[in-house]
Amino acid sequence: MKFNFFITNDGSPTLRNLEVDELYHSKFGAYLEAKVKYSDALEITKKNDSVIFDVCFGLGYNTAVAIDELKKENKFAKFYCFENDLDVLKQIPDLKYDTFGFKLMQQAVSLFLLGKNDFELEGFYFKFELGDARNLIKKYFDIADFIFFDPFSPKNTPEMWEEEFLKDVYNSTKKEGKIATYSYSRKAKDSFKNAGFLLKDGPVLGRRSPSLIGFKQNFIK
Ligand SMILES: C[S@@+](CC[C@H](N)C(=O)[O-])C[C@H]1O[C@@H](n2cnc3c(N)ncnc32)[C@H](O)[C@@H]1O
Repeated sequence: MKFNFFITNDGSPTLRNLEVDELYHSKFGAYLEAKVKYSDALEITKKNDSVIFDVCFGLGYNTAVAIDELKKENKFAKFYCFENDLDVLKQIPDLKYDTFGFKLMQQAVSLFLLGKNDFELEGFYFKFELGDARNLIKKYFDIADFIFFDPFSPKNTPEMWEEEFLKDVYNSTKKEGKIATYSYSRKAKDSFKNAGFLLKDGPVLGRRSPSLIGFKQNFIK
């Protein structure tokens, strides 16, 4: 068995990946972390019909929360979901968490598992990119408004935090676009900065260091 089940402090379920020996989310709350470090940090509700890249989709919380936040403001988005592990996607339909966004995200994953790659549901567009995000991202240039960058830690998956990949992520971002990640490690900061992003501290949740936000331009501290 590759996964262990775990309920986080806000009641939302997550998994531990036993091969990487890492939880998919902070123990403080899978849903809460996705809201604070991604949707809130990037202020996604300020824009309608944005293009959101969910890089390292995992159990889909970052997309699920973004749908909930946008729905409150009657706004929509197009989600491009990058993930290389089909096994983790197959766990999603069995998770029990009861928000509109979580259920819509589950429905989208179920359609993907039935063979549909891109489609619209309730006004939200979904496109699934299954495979190594480091290759798949190269297809895209200048289209993402917001990037949720959520790999496992730099210690466990150093290849996901290399400057070369971050440069391709940078190129996929619109000039007024932004990226967020939970890591405040030296590796994350150096690679983001060397790729071209201007950095700002993100929100603090559950530990001392903040998360990280990167701007392509228009940086206001
Ligand atoms: C921390 S988890 C993501 C958690 C996720 N955002 C969520 O809300 O559940 C990291 C994810 O990155 C995926 N991953 C690892 N290497 C990858 C790669 N080269 N390309 C795409 N996804 C990758 C893993 O399979 C895992 O699902």
